Amino acid sequence: MGRTLAAAIGIASIAAAAVASAEPPAGAASCSGCHPASTRVISPVPRLTGMDRAAMVRAMRDFRSGQRAGTVMDRIAKGFTDDEIQAIAAWYASQK
Ligand code: HEC
Repeated sequence: MGRTLAAAIGIASIAAAAVASAEPPAGAASCSGCHPASTRVISPVPRLTGMDRAAMVRAMRDFRSGQRAGTVMDRIAKGFTDDEIQAIAAWYASQK
């Protein structure tokens, strides 16, 4: 009984968190492990929040094709289709 209730609360809070973040598209959540979401985080990895949509699409395609060298982004970009890149870029561009 108690365990079922705890599980139900757990699921409810995960669902609430997803809604609060305005539903990032598939894959976008993985980016924030390296690209800081907060301006208060000091990191050599640039923030993506508010990045120009076209610039992000270009960067991802260039990393994917090898036209732009990266330490990790070349490998990461290979995991995304054009549609996924478009969706992620649109979502980040819309974030403040
Ligand atoms: C393992 C850490 C890591 C993850 C995860 C990661 N990045 Fe990166 N990202 C980097 C690093 C480091 C750079 C700098 C280029 C390099 O060294 O590869 C970078 C650079 C970029 C740039 C270029 C930024 C600019 O101003 O030129 C874009 C765009 C980008 N990442 C998008 C993404 C997206 C979108 C995701 C999620 C799908 C993502 N990254 C996930 C580490 C990461």
